[in-house]
Amino acid sequence: MDKYVIKGGNPLVGEVEIGGAKNAALAILTAAIMTDEPVTVDNIPDVSDINVLLEAISVIGATVERIDRHTARINGVTIGSVSVDYAYIKKIRASYYLLGALLGKYKRAEVPLPGGCNIGSRPIDQHLKGFRALGATVEIKNGNIVTSAERLHGAHIFMDMVSVGATINIMMAAALAEGNTIIENAAREPHVVDVANFLNCMGANIKGAGTDVIRIRGVQQLHRTSYTIVPDMIEAGTYMFAAAATKGDVLIKEIIPKHLEAMTAKLQEIGCEVEEFDDAIRVCAKTRLGKTQVKTLPYPGFPTDMQPQMSVVLSLANGTSIVTESIFENRFKYADELMRMGANVKIEGNTAIIDGVSQLTGARISAPDLRAGAALVIAGLAAEGITVVDDIVYIQRGYEDFAGKLRNLGAEIEQVREEREIMKFRLRVG
Ligand code: UD1
Repeated sequence: MDKYVIKGGNPLVGEVEIGGAKNAALAILTAAIMTDEPVTVDNIPDVSDINVLLEAISVIGATVERIDRHTARINGVTIGSVSVDYAYIKKIRASYYLLGALLGKYKRAEVPLPGGCNIGSRPIDQHLKGFRALGATVEIKNGNIVTSAERLHGAHIFMDMVSVGATINIMMAAALAEGNTIIENAAREPHVVDVANFLNCMGANIKGAGTDVIRIRGVQQLHRTSYTIVPDMIEAGTYMFAAAATKGDVLIKEIIPKHLEAMTAKLQEIGCEVEEFDDAIRVCAKTRLGKTQVKTLPYPGFPTDMQPQMSVVLSLANGTSIVTESIFENRFKYADELMRMGANVKIEGNTAIIDGVSQLTGARISAPDLRAGAALVIAGLAAEGITVVDDIVYIQRGYEDFAGKLRNLGAEIEQVREEREIMKFRLRVG
């Protein structure tokens, strides 16, 4: 199993380019099968979640051509099945977007019910409630969600909670329903907007994405388009916090600074210098950072996907910080690993109380999930000595060339497979 081996202590300095948003790409590549014409999507991140999704789409019959590392051409005209294999949903929950896409296009879909995952129980009742409101029947049979409709019709849907996945899934199905749909209490994340923009480029009629009321006028069919995915705000945020944790100075390029405001505000509050440009942001940490309180919230609040990275920065800050996780129930699994590196973290329910220490020390640790894994790498970069991070498959789900981009910023990090390669690394870095 591959691992990262890191010699910490170097401030990250330099420039890093951010790729397209993984979470937008997962939905957009799925929505691309909703037309029988070719669709070209650019700025796709080359990460394992995306590659699994493209395989899932091709297994149901869609034509998927990888034009280059970041561009794919998809044609849904060849689809021969509306039933998705459990192997895919097990690997990536987001293959549940095939429910909305297939239901909208073919008025039926069969997708395995996703189970819980490392960050907690993740129900999809709001997705199903939305499909039912659009006139579909939804049944759970042999572990699968089986949904079908004679015809889909517009509806006025109130979401019980703000859900990115449900907003997108319902938006996809409603794009091809008859009449008008209104989604109230919709998620406002940049990737919800990106999916709406993409569907509109294919001929859909969606207004209000980015606000909490989305209005969709159903159309009969969608058509060909070319589209470029929005920059990944979580990848960008991860490098911002890596710069902060290592007392570095990093220019993060190819981004939309507006999407990063919640993170920028927190970094400034704890004493980082953050400079915004049109499509870049510079994060510079000169002195030891200070404490704060932070609570994860739906966009534009502080993202849950940045909570572990924030906690790592605060584990090195001066004073006691409080981090409250309000979106997922099990998102502090990295705390034990961080404590093995010398951090002082106490978890009470959905709150972490973090007493900043002046130094972390390298240790052997495991990535418990995607974002927590990235956060532990940041801890390793900031720590004194050698850190080995196991289970990096989680990290590779969402970060393209993580080690390479960090090395360009001056980090000493390598991806290795064998234990003896860890020894070699130790000998080399001294
Ligand atoms: C998406 C992101 C994920 C991010 C999360 C919150 C993708 C592929 N994943 O996940 O990285 O952490 O948004 O920003 O885009 N809920 C229900 N019932 C539902 C749907 C959701 O109770 O039907 C609850 C969830 O358990 C959670 C909250 O609503 O507590 C938010 O979940 P949601 O926004 O749906 O997250 P995902 O779309 O799964």
